[in-house]
Amino acid sequence: MDKVHRIGVLTGGGDAPGLNAVIRAVVKSAINRGLECYGIPDSFDGLIEVDRPFPLTHKDVTGILRMGGTILGTVNRGDPFLKPFMTSDGPKDYGDRCIEILEKTGIDAVVAIGGDGTLSLSQHFYQLGMPIVGVPKTIDNDIVGTVNCFGFDTATSFATEAIDRLHSTAAAHRRIMVVEVMGRYAGWIALHAGLGGGADVILIPEIPYDVEKVAERVRARDEFGAKFTIVVVAEGAKPKGGQRSIVKAAAGEYVERLGGVGHKLAHDLEALTGKEARTVVLGHLQRGGSPTSYDRVLATRFGARAVDLIMRGQFGKMVASHPPDIVPVSLSEVVGKTKTVPEHHDILLTARSVGISFGD
Ligand code: F6P
Repeated sequence: MDKVHRIGVLTGGGDAPGLNAVIRAVVKSAINRGLECYGIPDSFDGLIEVDRPFPLTHKDVTGILRMGGTILGTVNRGDPFLKPFMTSDGPKDYGDRCIEILEKTGIDAVVAIGGDGTLSLSQHFYQLGMPIVGVPKTIDNDIVGTVNCFGFDTATSFATEAIDRLHSTAAAHRRIMVVEVMGRYAGWIALHAGLGGGADVILIPEIPYDVEKVAERVRARDEFGAKFTIVVVAEGAKPKGGQRSIVKAAAGEYVERLGGVGHKLAHDLEALTGKEARTVVLGHLQRGGSPTSYDRVLATRFGARAVDLIMRGQFGKMVASHPPDIVPVSLSEVVGKTKTVPEHHDILLTARSVGISFGD
């Protein structure tokens, strides 16, 4: 393709602290390199109507570095390729339309910031000829091909602080405190926050738990004199031979909503130990608020590197963190996979060696 003059930037999927820092870095480094930058609102939905993309200037991104959420919005109607509509030329899907609108708006290349869903769509659009670069986003840290993602440090720092605070009330009442954290099908948030917060038990999706083993740990702590127990459970954890707890089953293109394992666990532990148990579900608090310094820096590096890839014509790539570098990896190698906690991961082994139970 000819030289890029105008970049479009969009955010898709669930928000993560640091999205605005990426947008800011894309806008600033694009403009500083002589390009124009357009914001595409509401993920790929912003490419379904011609008048929605809008110019972004230095002024528009001033002050957003420290803001949670995304100034571009991330509401969308799902996969545009699954939305057919009739035209005088026969049936089309909104994927065709997105490409048409991009051309009409004069956007030469797109930076798509999102999780696996958005990156999969980006790969699909790339195969159809859209010049696109992906930026990985997730608080869950479950995107393959990158060591880490912005949002994860903010989420784990918040969860760690919550676990810190729960220690004193757990000790005062000699209770079991169950803290349910996010993470979908990966245990990274539970593992990091549990280790950082000094949990006694960490339950993750990768290791199905035996509730009797958890109860044993509670009894052992009582005998030892600690009299309270902090259990961190990932929303995707499940008992041995049992199912994940879900709030809403998957429907069509929408994924299942996880939740409920914390309450179930507290109920079962009360019955097994005779102690009082309480559950705290941290939920979307983990995604809200200002990004940590670490996430702001990582997000800024991702945004600047994405513009760099566009200037070099390296499309169909995702920027990835391979410390100390930010490197391009092919979207095709990344999408449709989940990075879970390996059985012999050093952090998992460290947690075991300091005596944390995984309920196995
Ligand atoms: O993927 C990020 C995440 O926060 C998961 O940890 C969680 O399961 C899910 O999104 C919640 O999604 P929603 O915002 O749709 O409730």
